[in-house]
Amino acid sequence: EATAVVVVAAGSGERLGYGMPKAKVPLGGETILTHALRGVAAADVARQICVAVPAGDLELRELCEEFRQELGVDGPLITVVDGGSTRAASVRAALGAVLEGTRAVLVHDAARALTPERVFHRVAVALSSGAKAVIPAIPVVDTVKMVAETDGDDAGIAPEIVTGTAPREQLRAVQTPQGFDFETLLRAHAAAATFDDEQAAAVTDDAMLVELLGVPVHAVRGASQSLKITTPLDLIIAEGLLEGPLG
Ligand code: CTP
Ligand code: MG
Repeated sequence: EATAVVVVAAGSGERLGYGMPKAKVPLGGETILTHALRGVAAADVARQICVAVPAGDLELRELCEEFRQELGVDGPLITVVDGGSTRAASVRAALGAVLEGTRAVLVHDAARALTPERVFHRVAVALSSGAKAVIPAIPVVDTVKMVAETDGDDAGIAPEIVTGTAPREQLRAVQTPQGFDFETLLRAHAAAATFDDEQAAAVTDDAMLVELLGVPVHAVRGASQSLKITTPLDLIIAEGLLEGPLG
């Protein structure tokens, strides 16, 4: 069945603090994007890999071209597009370059560079079993609370006040690749394209846009190796994973 993987790699990597787009940051002697692309190709679930890179970034385009040559003529089609100013805009840009006739799309963060093949497979299997939307998820280890800015009598005590505690056994930390029926994902992103800035800022994954359509989103088991490399600590963990028994 015709599947495409969208790899979003157009972020600036502010929190990692390397002063360069995160996709270019070295990890185990290669870039984060190279690791991510290798993982996608190794999973062998797609006829097309569509990568969103920072607009005008020729180095990352070149890196994708090298990867295309490494895969050879029998590999999936590699398409590169300029990303947008938000993750969702980058996804939309990539969706615009997905081949006609595509049935399913997996959207993957380049920052989850060490995602194991089995996670791609779980998502792909659920899609081929009829799901319109599938996400990989893992249990949450911390207790998660809601807070609000403190005002009134409490303002002098602490900056925030707890407004509630979520039941942890019902919570999941959500990862990528997130898999969708292509038409459903296009509909979800068309709705999001009209959001104002505040609404757009609240969009942190693709599945939440599909949830807004009322389409059921299914969850399969994710993996701790799929961590999103966000902070310097995450990069240390990723380096450790590459060296250690889990790599
Ligand atoms: N992303 C993207 N386009 C954007 C913003 C993010 O393609 N405008 C991608 C990133 O490249 C990353 C994924 O979305 O692979 C998850 O985003 P995040 O971890 O937040 O990466 P950055 O936005 O680069 O990091 P930061 O928020 O710290 O700047
Ligand atoms: Mg970001």
